[in-house]
Amino acid sequence: MDMRPIGVFDSGLGGLTAVRSLRQILPEENLIYFGDTARVPYGGRSRDTILKYARQDVRFLRSFDLKAIVIACGTISTTSLDALQAENDLPIIGVVEPTCRRAVLVTKAKKVGIIATLASIRSGAYEAAIRRLDPEVEVTGRPCPLFVPLVENGRIQRGDVVIETVAREYLEPLKATGIDTLILGCTHYPLLTEIIADIMGPEVTLVSAGEESAFELKRMLKTRDLRADESRQGTAEFYVSERTEDFERIASVFLQEDLHHAARRIDIDQYGI
Ligand code: DGL
Repeated sequence: MDMRPIGVFDSGLGGLTAVRSLRQILPEENLIYFGDTARVPYGGRSRDTILKYARQDVRFLRSFDLKAIVIACGTISTTSLDALQAENDLPIIGVVEPTCRRAVLVTKAKKVGIIATLASIRSGAYEAAIRRLDPEVEVTGRPCPLFVPLVENGRIQRGDVVIETVAREYLEPLKATGIDTLILGCTHYPLLTEIIADIMGPEVTLVSAGEESAFELKRMLKTRDLRADESRQGTAEFYVSERTEDFERIASVFLQEDLHHAARRIDIDQYGI
């Protein structure tokens, strides 16, 4: 048994969708979440900048005595996972591999679509993982750069003409390729599930990045004998790098539950390398 907390981080608040899955799948674990709200979004930046930010984020999280880290961000997972794993002596899980494994299991037509940030699509990491798992699967990737800012601004409701127009422009060409499975390769996107499902139709299965990594973490903790006492209720602490006002309200939307935790603000520049 290991009662140390698990660090979870994202460029902003999108990673809270992964926290939601982690709390459902591993309710006994203590979580420490960091959202780099001062510098979100990462998705349009270069790999070098994303890696630099990710190293700082990990450095902050490692000021706690953690047993594992979950990168609850497609953009950081696709660009920086290997480097972060090589530099750190604790298990680090990203979203790419677990999500692709699920997509390959789900697709019957062997046609999978991926929507993610520009940096994630540019990295080719999702495509490469699918090809490794099943070379016969045809993959079509599409960056959706306006989704993250719209989600961070709360434009997630059905009937919101801005998000629906943007979503149709991104998704209709993907639908036309005949995919039967769509990877939501960015942890902000599960908040758009209804809007995306309306456009893609019932014949397309949506696979969310955050949820699959929670199952992967559970397996890993079990194999390494790192699980917390299963009879207890885990705690969660939240840290951000920008103003904390409105955190509870916005985080409640991402977590889809009433959150009564205030976030603490930290100065991420202090963790510069
Ligand atoms: N949640 C992040 C991801 O999964 C958002 C990316 C961004 O900051 O642009 O990719």
